[in-house]
Amino acid sequence: MSSPQSSISLPPRHDTFLKIFTKHQLHPNPKPAYLKPGSISVAHQTGVITGGNAGIGLESGRLLLSLGLSQLILAARSPSKGQEAAAALQKQYPKAKIDVWQLDLNSYDSIREFARKCAALPRLDIAILSAGIMNVGYKTSPVTGREEMLQVNYLSTALLAILLLPTLKREKPSGANTPGRLTLVASGAALIAEFSEGNGTPLHPPFDKQGERWNMSAAKKRYDLSKSMVLMLGYTLSKMIKPDETVINIVDPSFTPGTSFFHNLPLLIKIFAYPLAMLLGTSTNSAGWRYVDAAVARGKESHGSFLSDWEINPYGKQFMDRLWNETVNELDFPEVREAMESIREK
Ligand SMILES: NC(=O)c1ccc[n+]([C@@H]2O[C@H](COP(=O)([O-])OP(=O)(O)OC[C@H]3O[C@@H](n4cnc5c(N)ncnc54)[C@H](OP(=O)(O)O)[C@@H]3O)[C@@H](O)[C@H]2O)c1
Repeated sequence: MSSPQSSISLPPRHDTFLKIFTKHQLHPNPKPAYLKPGSISVAHQTGVITGGNAGIGLESGRLLLSLGLSQLILAARSPSKGQEAAAALQKQYPKAKIDVWQLDLNSYDSIREFARKCAALPRLDIAILSAGIMNVGYKTSPVTGREEMLQVNYLSTALLAILLLPTLKREKPSGANTPGRLTLVASGAALIAEFSEGNGTPLHPPFDKQGERWNMSAAKKRYDLSKSMVLMLGYTLSKMIKPDETVINIVDPSFTPGTSFFHNLPLLIKIFAYPLAMLLGTSTNSAGWRYVDAAVARGKESHGSFLSDWEINPYGKQFMDRLWNETVNELDFPEVREAMESIREK
């Protein structure tokens, strides 16, 4: 496999985001030849996917089933949407066990309950945390009161990732010496995030105030920032657990207009952006394979790294330590302390 260097050790790239984006979308690297049924198998394994009822999450579930996954848990905030998605997959893969578990990333209680259910599974091999949002208007989480993109894309994803790690690192029943797999989903947009609130102490509260000029540009900035935090989260967690126990990486699915991700955009923008989306967009199937590449095919060399355009990409360490300290203060639950203690190297 190419890219033996991790993201943090790669020299920073000085290309503009536009250059990187057009390269990735217009002239992407080819999909690796090893990504096909027959070359890779996840037989006997159990996988969980958040945002599993729709878009790239759902597609990656279908692909994992095509690689022989035995049990798939679709985490869905709406059980009826989850059941609908599961029924279609079950038709295609009648032998697999496909479950729908409710998960609302706006609620810490829901996440803690979900993690408890995962801990009771006989085994958990793969977790792909795909659920994410891009709001145009300013919205707060109805439960925590925090700005919703920061809540769902970063803080709640962080809570679930931390709580799943002890379960992922457990020895598998077969005794097979395979590490657990945790793949977080970021975006190429993470690379252009601006930490305009970065001088605030602490980092989180200023993000929750509705800016005086909250508009589409502010919304896009907040989204980019939330995904940049996901990159940092993946890197920081990777320092706490050995890749022999669980491989943690972060993936950019690339610009994939065929999902419901952009449904909040104003109609006029959708109409104008349509031809561009057709020209530059990646198919949902290709984006799903990118998840599978990160969560299954890539090995320990990808631990803590950011996969974009089928290769490991560089990113910097700015703000990481400070953000981490504030994150664990926010997620001050007994099981978070236990999870951290249990994954820490002895
Ligand atoms: N599409 C792109 O161009 C693109 C590019 C870069 C990165 N990404 C990232 O890729 C991931 C998947 O995006 P997608 O294109 O597949 O989007 P999508 O079709 O909109 O799917 C998003 C999923 O997240 C779920 N979700 C949203 N809020 C939730 C909450 N509070 N609790 C639980 N689940 C929640 C949605 O559930 P509902 O169905 O109930 O809403 C849905 O299943 C996201 O993290 C996104 O940021 C996408």
